[in-house]
Amino acid sequence: MKIGIDKIGFYAPHLYVDMNKLAVSRNVEPEKYTIGIGQEKMALAPITQDSVTMAANAALKILDEEDKKAIDFVIFGTESGIDNSKSAGVYVHDLLGLNPYARSIEVKQACYGATAGIQMAKGHIALNPKSKVLVLGSDIARYGLNTSGEATQGAGAVAMLISADPKIMTLEENSAFLTEDIMDFWRPIHADKAFVDGKFSNEQYIAFFNKVWNQYKAKSGLELSDFEAICYHLPYTKMGFKALKTVLDEGTDEDRERLLANYKISTQYNRNVGNIYTGSLYLSLLSLLELNENLQAGSRIGLFSYGSGAVGEFFSGKLEENYREHLHVVEHEQLFSSRIEITVAEYEEIFQETLPVDSSTMELDLEKDPATICLAGITDNKRQYVNKVFGKVPVMK
Ligand code: COA
Repeated sequence: MKIGIDKIGFYAPHLYVDMNKLAVSRNVEPEKYTIGIGQEKMALAPITQDSVTMAANAALKILDEEDKKAIDFVIFGTESGIDNSKSAGVYVHDLLGLNPYARSIEVKQACYGATAGIQMAKGHIALNPKSKVLVLGSDIARYGLNTSGEATQGAGAVAMLISADPKIMTLEENSAFLTEDIMDFWRPIHADKAFVDGKFSNEQYIAFFNKVWNQYKAKSGLELSDFEAICYHLPYTKMGFKALKTVLDEGTDEDRERLLANYKISTQYNRNVGNIYTGSLYLSLLSLLELNENLQAGSRIGLFSYGSGAVGEFFSGKLEENYREHLHVVEHEQLFSSRIEITVAEYEEIFQETLPVDSSTMELDLEKDPATICLAGITDNKRQYVNKVFGKVPVMK
C-alpha cells in the first residue's frame, strides 16, 4: 500500500523583520546574516499567536469537510508547547472541528517531532488504511535579543495530511535513524528561551547527517545519483548546505548541479521565515515543490530530519502524478506578499510581551492579527482560543 503526504499547508505570522536592518542595529555586517547564515526575513509571532494557533491556521487551509471526518489521529510535534500536561493536539482538534472519535497527542524531540509524527502516522495507516492522520509541526524559535542565535529565530507551522494513496508524495520503505545523548541545544522547563552550543550543534548536525546517510545507502542500495533533491531541516539556510557539501563528491557533475540547484530552491521559504524548528524540514520540502515547476512525477526526494539532543533520520519519498495540482501555491504566495515589515524597535517590544504567569486575566486585541485562529487571552490559567470563522469568542472574566 502507498502511504504518504496527501496534503501540505503552511502558516507564518503576518509580521517580519528584515535581516539587513537587524544586522545594522546589532553592529554586524548584513552579509553575515544574509550570506553567512543565509536569512533574509525573520517571521515574528505576535502575542496572539502561539504554537497551537499557528498549527491550526496551517491546517485550516488544507482540510475539507471529508478530511475532518476521516482524521482519527492528530499528532502535534512541537518544542514550544503551551502546557506540560495537556497536548497541543487536543486544542487544535477542537479549533478545527475534527471528528471527535480521534486520538490527539503531542510529540517532543526538539526539531525531530513532526518526523516522529509522520512515521507514527505511516504505521497507523498501514493498520487502518481508511484513516487519515493530521501531522503538525509548529514552533516559535527564541534565543533572545542580542544573542548569537538571534539571527536564527523565526515562527511558523506546517500541517500535513498523511493517508493511503497520497496525492503529493509516497513515503518509501527505507529509513535510517540515530539517537545520541548530547547537549547541543536544550530548553529546561523554567526557560522561555533555548540554550544552545551553536558550533557544537552545527558539528553534530553534520555528523548525524553523515551517519544516517551512510546507513540509508547501506540499507537501500541507493546512491546520490538516485535523488532529484535532498531537503534538510533548516535552522538557517546555510546549515543544510554545509551538510550537503560533505556528500557532493559522491556524485557526477550533473548530480552536483541538480542537487545544488534544488537545494537553493528548497531554502527560499525558510530564508524568508526563519527557523520554525519542527516544521522547518517540511517548509523546505514545500518550498521545493511549490517553487520548482519542473519536478517530474516519480522523482525521489531525500529528507534529513535533525532534532538536537539528538535524534536524526534520513528517509525519502517519491512524487505522485499531478502532485502540483494538490499544492496551495497561490495561497502561500499571498501569505508571503501580505506580510507586514516591522522595525527592529517594534520587534524588540513584541518579543518581550508575555502572558501573565500569576493567574491573572489578560484580554488580547484581536483586531491587530489578521489570522483566522488566534489566542484571545488567558483567564483562570487557561488560554482562550478563537476561530473567527466559528465566531466562538471566549468571554473573559
Ligand atoms: N559576509 C559573509 N559571511 C560572513 C560575514 C560576512 N561579512 N561575517 C561572518 N560570516 C559567516 C561566517 O564565516 C560563518 O560562516 P561559516 O559558518 O560558513 O563559517 C557564518 O557567517 C556565521 O558566523 P559565526 O561567526 O559562526 O556566527 P555566530 O557565532 O554568531 O553564530 C550560529 C552562528 C548559527 C552558531 C548561531 O546563530 C546559533 O547558535 N544559532 C542557533 C543554533 C543552530 O541553529 N544550530 C544549528 C543546528 S540545529
